[in-house]
Amino acid sequence: MGEKSDKSQESEALFKAPKDFAANANANDPDIYKIAEQDPEKFWEMNAENIEWYNKWEKVLEWKPPHSKWFVGGKLNACYNCLDVNLKEHANKNALIWESESGEIRKYTYSELLEEVCKFANVLKDLGVKKGDIVTIYLPMIPQVIISMLACARIGAPHSVVFAAFSGESLATRIENANSRILVTCDGYSRRGKVVEQKNKVDDGIRSSEIVDKVVVVKHQQNDVRMKDGRDIWWHEIMEGAGTSCEPEVMDSEDMLFLMYTSGTTGKPKGIVHTTGGYMVATQTTSKFIFDLKEDDIYWCTADCGWITGHSYIVYGPLANGTTLVTYEGAPDYPDKDRYWDIIERHKVTILYTAPTAIRTFMKWGPSWPQMHDISTLRLIGSVGEPINPGAWLWYHENIGLGKCPVVDTWWQTETGMIMISALPGITTTKPGSATMAFPGIKAAVLDDKGNEVAPGENGYLAILNPWPSMVRTVFGNEERFIETYWSKWDNKTYFAGDGAKRDDDGYFWIIGRVDDVIKVSGHRIGSAEFESIMVSHPSVAEAGVVGKEDELRGEIIYCYVTLRTGVEESEDIKKELRTYVERNIGPFARPKQIIFADDLPKTRSGKIMRRVLKAIANEKDPGDLTTLQDPDVVQALKEKTMKLE
Ligand code: WT7
Repeated sequence: MGEKSDKSQESEALFKAPKDFAANANANDPDIYKIAEQDPEKFWEMNAENIEWYNKWEKVLEWKPPHSKWFVGGKLNACYNCLDVNLKEHANKNALIWESESGEIRKYTYSELLEEVCKFANVLKDLGVKKGDIVTIYLPMIPQVIISMLACARIGAPHSVVFAAFSGESLATRIENANSRILVTCDGYSRRGKVVEQKNKVDDGIRSSEIVDKVVVVKHQQNDVRMKDGRDIWWHEIMEGAGTSCEPEVMDSEDMLFLMYTSGTTGKPKGIVHTTGGYMVATQTTSKFIFDLKEDDIYWCTADCGWITGHSYIVYGPLANGTTLVTYEGAPDYPDKDRYWDIIERHKVTILYTAPTAIRTFMKWGPSWPQMHDISTLRLIGSVGEPINPGAWLWYHENIGLGKCPVVDTWWQTETGMIMISALPGITTTKPGSATMAFPGIKAAVLDDKGNEVAPGENGYLAILNPWPSMVRTVFGNEERFIETYWSKWDNKTYFAGDGAKRDDDGYFWIIGRVDDVIKVSGHRIGSAEFESIMVSHPSVAEAGVVGKEDELRGEIIYCYVTLRTGVEESEDIKKELRTYVERNIGPFARPKQIIFADDLPKTRSGKIMRRVLKAIANEKDPGDLTTLQDPDVVQALKEKTMKLE
């Protein structure tokens, strides 16, 4: 198999759920769909029994569109459900097997992890953190990121994890928005052997901030850092005397569990609010059925806790199932291109959950790397973050799944909290490139502008028609934006996902990609407006228009069209400076691939930059109707410049 056309959206291949897999799968009866469809609330209520509650709910759902409350009146603690509940039978089972880029390995049993979490929970309390206070976590994938998240959950302090590769500026914006007094970070970390000075980024970013009171610093990389008197505290010092038990806080179902910032079409990043009860039920249930988690599984999700995948499918869902996690702190090609397969072999990983951009990179490196290792322990493989093209799907199935593992392509978002569209590996016949069907209890559809369902094969907007337990509750501090972004497209009760999609004759979903101004670079979500506002804050830049260009490896890459201020000369030096400026202000993953200088940008008569036109130019497509343009001639000039790029 293998070299099928990559460009085609559809592939004829069908993969039935393997019989032996189906025989033991957590979900193998197709009736699960019928049962859930008849009464979704009942379905979620049944699954809520797998969570331990201090008090059961009075009502499963209160739906006042677009506001939902799930498991109304229920009381629980998320950390308790991830750790304490597993002590009865699994106290000495590994909860976490952690590996660093340099090869250090640390293992925590469930009881050891609980002890660390309790200690840090007590530390937070000693620092004055109270229920409801937001704690910001700015750590790479080291055990302390998981420990701090769970410690926050234990004492009812919502966490806001900021991806470690974000700049200090991006960190500061999020801290300010959340009004977060406590920050957990580290001295530094290494990527491909190169040290990232995390603490220095913190110092630069929050320099002028009056919000942050205390910074807890994990000593990880041993690089030199400045510790600010009265503000900065070493993790290892403050943990030393901390008590090893801590009563979990009794939380309401609808108490905030965490905030996760994500990029949208307009403005600054939005704080997506997730609450406790519905989120725990949703992630526990989907992990169990989609990843088929069992007693002996060794589960590795390669995501980072800085994104929602790390929250739902590293921490909360899998731990609530008593799973053994593998996490890896480094790059996939360090020291060599077989690092992932080496990890799978050594730790006997049975389930792998990774991203299309990684899969396409492995494909480019060739099958000899996985072939160097025994990866036959794998029994299920998953994909998330962007559309996976059939060629990459087939390669993954053949070379990593060794032709025997079911592939689950899982569609969801920061806002949905849980996987919404995916195969159930013991039931669904998969088609390479299709995320297949909505999860039981979820009603998904492809609609047109008016809200009518489009015919099979036609493109439309992906929509969710009914509420689900882990749905976004609001945008932190910005209720209007919550309504405007997700609910105002149609009738204020149908969720607009921001993705284009189509369904085939069998009703299978094929996700096409974002229809708004969100760019997906290697699965990372970048907002055009946010990016542009940073560009124009540079003293040499007058105007900027940023769009995604399709890319075989990364999904999309960034094309940035810039007009310079009068008197500033176009030069390679300025380009370099602007790239560094983006890295410093957002993070290295947002580095623009191309910066194209222009005398003018396509604008409407009212002066608004038309990204639609820029996007067409970058992708060498027909820009369509140009009659509303201030000056249609600019298009030709930009086309010529774009064509000349390599
Ligand atoms: C956007 C959400 C959900 C965790 C990681 C990303 C795209 C995600 C798929 C998939 C096609 C996908 C969509 C979505 N996306 N998974 N399986 N197939 N597209 O979370 O950063 O909130 O991004 O990622 O465009 O809207 P996120």
